[in-house]
Amino acid sequence: MSRLGIFDSGIGGLTTYLDIRKRTGVDIVYLADDLHSPYGDKSRGELYHCAIRSVDTLTLYGCDTIVIACNTITSTLKPQLVSRYPEVKFVGTEPALLPADRVVRGDGKIALMCTPATASSDRLRALISECVSTVDVYAMDGLASYIERYVCEEDMLCEYVSHLTPWLSRYRALVLGCTHYVYLKDILRELYPNLLIFDGNEGVANRVSDMVGGGRGCTIYLTTSGREGSYMRRIVDNYQRF
Ligand code: DGL
Repeated sequence: MSRLGIFDSGIGGLTTYLDIRKRTGVDIVYLADDLHSPYGDKSRGELYHCAIRSVDTLTLYGCDTIVIACNTITSTLKPQLVSRYPEVKFVGTEPALLPADRVVRGDGKIALMCTPATASSDRLRALISECVSTVDVYAMDGLASYIERYVCEEDMLCEYVSHLTPWLSRYRALVLGCTHYVYLKDILRELYPNLLIFDGNEGVANRVSDMVGGGRGCTIYLTTSGREGSYMRRIVDNYQRF
C-alpha cells in the first residue's frame, strides 16, 4: 500500500498535514528534521544534504509520494530532488502569491513573509514576476525558530509578532511563505483585521488528494531526526481547529 511522506525542518509542515488529512485517507509518515532546524538561514549545499537525508528516510518508510512541506526546500531545490529520485512523486509548497494576486489585482500591495533562503531564491523571483500587484518581500530571520520553540505559548507569540510586524498595516494582503508562520494566522488576523492572509497549504492538500485519492481518516506516524517526537502529537491535538 502506498504511503505519503511529509517533511519539514520541524513542526511547520504539521500545518500542511492538518489540511491534507481533511482531503485524503492514505497513511502518512511525518518527518521533522529538527536536528538540522532551522533551514531558513542555511546555504543551498547544506539544504541539499538535509533534504536528501529526509527523502531517503521517508523512502525507507515506504513513501512513494512526498510532500516537501517547506517553502525553503521547495524554492531552492525541488528540481534537483525530482531528478535525483525519479521513482518518487514530489509535491512542493510555495508561497501563495498567485492566489493573493488574483484577489488583490493591483489594488493595494502584497507583503510576503518568508525565510532568508526563500527570499533569495530564483524561484521566488520568478513567482513575483508573474504578479500584477506589487510584492514586498520580508526575510524573517529567526522567526521560524521562535515559533518552533514557543508554538504553544500564544501570549509570547502575540507579543513577539506585534513588535515585529507594525508595517503590515500598510498592506492589503499577506502571504505566509513559510509553513511555520501558519501558526500565527489567528494572531495576525486579530492584530490586522483588514488584512487578507494567504498560505500555500490548501493548494498542496488539493494536489495531494488529486494524486493519491480523496477520503478522510488517515493514520499518521510522527518521527524526527533529533529529539523524541511526542511533542508533535501535542501540537497536532492543539491545532485541530485549523
Ligand atoms: N517551515 C519551513 C519553510 O516553510 C522552514 C523554516 C525553517 O526551518 O527556517 O520554509
